[in-house]
Amino acid sequence: MLNIVLFGPPGCGKGTQSAKLIEKYNLVHLSTGDILRSEIANGTALGIEAKKLMDQGILVPDQVVIGMISAKLDANKNANGFIFDGFPRTQAQAAALDNLLKEKGTAITAMLSLDVEYDELVRRILHRGKDSGRPDDQNPTVIGKRVDEYNKKTAPLIDYYKSQNKFHSIKGNGTIDEIFGKLCEVIDNL
Ligand code: AP5
Ligand code: MG
Repeated sequence: MLNIVLFGPPGCGKGTQSAKLIEKYNLVHLSTGDILRSEIANGTALGIEAKKLMDQGILVPDQVVIGMISAKLDANKNANGFIFDGFPRTQAQAAALDNLLKEKGTAITAMLSLDVEYDELVRRILHRGKDSGRPDDQNPTVIGKRVDEYNKKTAPLIDYYKSQNKFHSIKGNGTIDEIFGKLCEVIDNL
């Protein structure tokens, strides 16, 4: 199996590149942000609780997203592999993911981290916020909070995957196709 953690701060291009990678490598895309937004759209109790945190740019509790990923892994037993987008975001999530994959006899193949500077992240997110309908895309303070959460709780996972020799950094500026080409080069050399 090919199991990729597509990593990086809010707005770095995880969703955009995931869409292209799943097509080329025939993988299943698992985005906890997308799953949470579909819970919100369906008005579930989980969605209502998650929305309060997401609208402030704060991470939802680990157990919530770990449960979601576990269910999705079970629902896709015959997959060729997975792209994890926006998950794991904490040490606890990374450890849980390793355990879930181990139970299934597989593991993370690599973490690909998209490196984009802060001003460009804010520019991209505010631009998308004009018509995304995402409340967390429209307010610079909330975007700043999302980046803070990333720096404090998520960026340390770089060391977690480095210690497993799975970390790869990719410059996330340039055109979408250029970045896609760089990601494919790394994957093809794994
Ligand atoms: P989530 O939905 O994961 O959002 P995010 O990580 O903040 O990142 P985005 O989805 O905004 O950005 P992206 O990297 O996917 O970039 P994209 O391709 O869209 O999480 C939202 C919230 O849910 C969190 O704040 C948290 O509350 C909660 N949550 C989710 N997962 C969680 C977890 N595991 N644990 C706890 N809480 C969790 O690109 C951004 C924009 O830029 C787009 O408009 C795109 O068209 C554009 N763009 C892309 N590439 C380029 C390029 N090369 N040049 C110019 N523009 C570009
Ligand atoms: Mg995304």
